[in-house]
Amino acid sequence: MIKIALLASALLVLALCQDVDYKVISDNMVLQRDSTRTRLWGTTTSDVVNVQLRRGNTVVDTYEAKPVSGRWELPLKSYPAGGPFEIFVKATTLRVYRNVVFGDVYLCSGQSNMEMSISQTQDAEKELQDTNYPNLRVFRVIHNDAKEPVDNVQGVWKVSSPSSLTGPWDQGFSAACYYFGRRVFKALNGEVPIGLIESNWGGTRVETWMSPDARKICNDTFIDGVNDPNEAGHMWNGQIVPLLKYNIKAALWYQGESNAGDERSAERYTCSFPQMISDWRAKWNVGDFPFYFVQIAGWNPGTNWPVFRLKQLTALKLQNTYFVTAIDIGDPTDIHPQDKQEVGRRLSLIALNQIYKKDVHYKGPTLKGIKSSSQAGTLTVRAELNDVVGNLTQKATPKCTTCCELGNIFKINTNKRQNVTPKGVKAEGNALVLEFDGTNDEVLSQVDYAMYPYPQCVYIDSATLLPVNSFRAN
Ligand SMILES: *[C@@H]1O[C@H](CO)[C@@H](O)[C@H](O)[C@H]1NC(C)=O
Ligand SMILES: *[C@@H]1O[C@H](CO)[C@@H](O)[C@H](O)[C@H]1NC(C)=O
Repeated sequence: MIKIALLASALLVLALCQDVDYKVISDNMVLQRDSTRTRLWGTTTSDVVNVQLRRGNTVVDTYEAKPVSGRWELPLKSYPAGGPFEIFVKATTLRVYRNVVFGDVYLCSGQSNMEMSISQTQDAEKELQDTNYPNLRVFRVIHNDAKEPVDNVQGVWKVSSPSSLTGPWDQGFSAACYYFGRRVFKALNGEVPIGLIESNWGGTRVETWMSPDARKICNDTFIDGVNDPNEAGHMWNGQIVPLLKYNIKAALWYQGESNAGDERSAERYTCSFPQMISDWRAKWNVGDFPFYFVQIAGWNPGTNWPVFRLKQLTALKLQNTYFVTAIDIGDPTDIHPQDKQEVGRRLSLIALNQIYKKDVHYKGPTLKGIKSSSQAGTLTVRAELNDVVGNLTQKATPKCTTCCELGNIFKINTNKRQNVTPKGVKAEGNALVLEFDGTNDEVLSQVDYAMYPYPQCVYIDSATLLPVNSFRAN
């Protein structure tokens, strides 16, 4: 009995001396390159922490940190892309982190369409064969529904390989995130290590990813209740707060379905979504990092999704914020479309252009303005578009049933009629020109393009293969 008690207290002392192991700082991690805001941190009972960055037998740099109340933080010098390094951290104990590289770190967040793993998407077997890249690394944050902010996540950095990526939704790695990362990695000829951190949870609303500060600005008076990942702020507490010290290059976001399906939080999205972005940027304190998001995909039951997609775009008022659409790569009956390759491709185009300054087009055409005229019983509507590179051509969506029938793309309202479909549509340079039977005194009040839950047909730019973005012009 006494022996056991002694052993227990010895273990307790040991536990108290032990430095906390911050899981996101581990073997195989990718640290953000070219930045003086990349840091290591920890807790310890030691009053000094010595850190060495080593490459093989060479000590590249040494650092010393002085813990304050047991906590230490160490900003690193800026390092270019490269590695591998070992990092020796000597506090109460000695820790060695191996196979560490400097590169670009992306955070991938949102709900189930971001979480959906490679194994759940089309051509999974084939895709998983193309994953052996030693300098492409992934970290999956294990779900943590937390009522209060926590300072550690569970998870582990892994080197990209079939076995490290495969698995069901909450175990395999995010397909949208991975396809993005692999494209960027390859486009840079593998010269820049890429680190992908996924922190997401299916079925979550944006409110749960927001800090109390951000929710307050949007007058979100959500009252905390039962253990449900949709409770306000739980994802923020459990899956974002513990990452805030980890420097990132940019964030990718695929979320909104759960807000679209909830009237009150759909209404508030024009405040909450941009507010979440601004607040994340403020709290990360690594500058106004790029934020790229996905507009929710085509899906027949999503009655209010067309309008919700436009609400998502209010975030574009923030600088360094871009989006890709998925209206044409959805699934009419499945809220989880399997084509995540194209989502990743579109997101990668933004990064390649904006971050890596590559000469690629990343913007699908958007509405510039509407002109209309009425003559001899015909009402002509010209939708002028921005960012047209090639020719505008019709594309039936992959699982369409009525596809590119004329009534499936455009609808207008006038002072006399509602939901009028055109008798003819043609592309003229940067414009789509619609013709309607009409009367001379008819006044146009609204023009809709692709404002359907699951658009049957879209226009695409033949040079970029990006669709014209849905619009409603009043
Ligand atoms: C929040 O409430 C304040 C005070 O009533 C109001 O001025 C502000 O416009 C509201 N903000 C939003 C986003 O509704
Ligand atoms: C656009 O159409 C013109 C005329 O048909 C054709 O010559 C050209 O190759 C097309 N451009 C693209 C990018 O498809």
